[in-house]
Amino acid sequence: MIQEQLFDEAAIAARVRELGAAISKDYAGKNPMILGVLTSSAVFVGDLTRSIEIPCEFDFIALSRYSDTEGIRFIKDTTASVEGRHILLVEDTIDTGLTLQYVLKTLRERQAASVEICTLLDRKQRRIAGMDVKYRGFEIPDVFVVGYGLDYQGRYRELPALYSHGSWPK
Ligand code: IMP
Ligand code: MG
Repeated sequence: MIQEQLFDEAAIAARVRELGAAISKDYAGKNPMILGVLTSSAVFVGDLTRSIEIPCEFDFIALSRYSDTEGIRFIKDTTASVEGRHILLVEDTIDTGLTLQYVLKTLRERQAASVEICTLLDRKQRRIAGMDVKYRGFEIPDVFVVGYGLDYQGRYRELPALYSHGSWPK
């Protein structure tokens, strides 16, 4: 059940513009590949890329965590090769960090020129895999968040703002 609104549309839009401006400055002349992690980062990627003022490309990957012990695998890979490309990985939320740790390792093995992380939300309390996060929208407390692409069992992605949810998915 939805509890309280954490960030409204205006606050999200303002922060996304700031991130876009920083990315535009840092990646000028580099034709970065913005690589979103489906599905929940899709709304963020759409807004973020429109706030980036330099030429860039964007693509998506999809991952599945098929068991807690066996780890993570790609269910949709990149469309083009990442070799020699400047990759900006875009996530909606970093929680334990295990998802991105796997993606970072894979992209480095494939010899991307650089790999950096941009996350809309950062929940540091439950981090297992530490990593440098270059661009961060907001830090959040230990609550489950929905809206703006983020779901609880498939629901609430379409909401334009970010809300806390009363429970965590099983
Ligand atoms: P991690 O691998 O534990 O860092 O989990 C990150 C993944 O879990 C991301 O792909 C998120 O989409 C999802 N996730 C983590 N926290 C939330 C949340 O509060 N709401 C919705 N999805 C979340
Ligand atoms: Mg996700």
